[in-house]
Amino acid sequence: MANQFVCSLLLLIAATSTYAQITPTIGIVGGVAAASGTRSYVVSVKDSGGSILCGAVLYNDVTVITTASCLVFLPLGNFLVGVNNGTKSIQIVANISNPDFDSDTNEHDVALLKLAESVSAEYVELPSNKPVTGSTGVLTGWDANNILVDVSETIIAADDCVSGNYGYDVDEVFASNVCGLAKNKACNAIGGVPLVSNNQLVGLLSWGNACANDDNPAVFSNIFAEKSWIESNVNNL
Ligand SMILES: *[C@@H]1O[C@H](CO)[C@@H](O)[C@H](O)[C@H]1NC(C)=O
Ligand SMILES: *[C@@H]1O[C@H](CO)[C@@H](O)[C@H](O)[C@H]1NC(C)=O
Repeated sequence: MANQFVCSLLLLIAATSTYAQITPTIGIVGGVAAASGTRSYVVSVKDSGGSILCGAVLYNDVTVITTASCLVFLPLGNFLVGVNNGTKSIQIVANISNPDFDSDTNEHDVALLKLAESVSAEYVELPSNKPVTGSTGVLTGWDANNILVDVSETIIAADDCVSGNYGYDVDEVFASNVCGLAKNKACNAIGGVPLVSNNQLVGLLSWGNACANDDNPAVFSNIFAEKSWIESNVNNL
């Protein structure tokens, strides 16, 4: 593809070198530190050395939602989930990716992880409505120092994202996506970090073709579009 898929690119770099190198080189630029004690629904997928590989979110006490690209592009192994603002790491006992996930296009980029032990934290709900262009949400991820930061985002529904205003085509952004523009041009988040509105999970960062550029929103998995898959698989993990 002609576009520079930031997330996929980083993941490719990860696959061809030691993926522990991801963490020092990326981190959100332009975010605002999340208030202490908030955002406990945000968790990380980490390697056994403790490096954060992807973002993810707690759906209930033992279930994490992340991106399928997180699991596909990275070496499988002893992944852990970092909870409680990184103060605790928990093993993963099961995982399932949406079988419709397409690793070329990142369509249907969603996966579920089951934790080895129960986590007490805030959980996100699945969205009750499809994403509405112009509504807002908060993306939360890590800066270069692994501090959780918030980025205010304007949500753009997939059909508006491919309307010609943003440089994306219909063969790149699908019904299983939602786009988001960082209001303060923040950028450099890692894949899987959540976009949340009213405690509902709108999206998980999947990829994006530029940084800090108004014409190039980030592309998220559209959790409303994945809701039935999540609901029908969460109890089968
Ligand atoms: C996470 O922990 C760091 C380090 O102790 C702290 O500075 C930060 O405020 C915490 N963030 C949240 C969202 O609790
Ligand atoms: C996901 O499950 C498969 C087996 O179904 C396993 O080989 C793989 O290591 C697991 N991935 C993670 C991240 O736990």
